[in-house]
Amino acid sequence: MTVVAIDGPAGAGKSTVARAVAERLGFTYLDTGAMYRSVALAARERGAEPATIAPALEIQQLGKRVLVDGRDVTEAIRKPEVSEAASRAAADPAVREAVVAQQRRLLEGGDWVAEGRDIGSVVAPEADVKVFLTADPAERARRRASELGLDEATVLAEQTIRDQRDQTREHSPLQAAPDAITLDTTHMTFAEVVARIAGIVAGTGHH
Ligand code: DC
Repeated sequence: MTVVAIDGPAGAGKSTVARAVAERLGFTYLDTGAMYRSVALAARERGAEPATIAPALEIQQLGKRVLVDGRDVTEAIRKPEVSEAASRAAADPAVREAVVAQQRRLLEGGDWVAEGRDIGSVVAPEADVKVFLTADPAERARRRASELGLDEATVLAEQTIRDQRDQTREHSPLQAAPDAITLDTTHMTFAEVVARIAGIVAGTGHH
């Protein structure tokens, strides 16, 4: 069993990079942000608190689709209002406890590339490889805006608020694990980042 943890702020390219690394290594990809987003979406739709919803929610990731209690929410969880709600839900320790427990159960078997904010520090501190991906805030906003077809200035403004909340929340704030390798991707191409991480994994013999 091998776990590759990829953490970092929004827009650093974690999702595309983690997906590609998983494909290259033949590992399964786990998008932990999608789990917080799923909790936030379900809470909004059901008019309930995220903390009461989280423990019972069945979140499945099948290939590129995300299913919550059997329903395909892949597009719905990417909406800006759900991003905002997910960031707030993720600051609640009760939500984190339930979601992290689910993540740990998944990571118990098989080979994974797990992507999020606290994989190397909290979810899987024993991960074989830990990478912390970063990029300049403006570059992250530019990437995110072009990926989602949104206005760059608006994305940057919202990203700043979420970064601030993710980094300063009391419970599991976004920070690199002490033994993580930090990769600043501002001036790297996607292919370079993927090759670098695959090289790091190969260097540990876990491939
Ligand atoms: O990576 P993302 O934008 O899909 O994440 C959505 C929100 O969930 C974001 O505000 C950070 C939070 N999150 C977290 O706190 N811990 C994780 N492991 C993954 C995401």
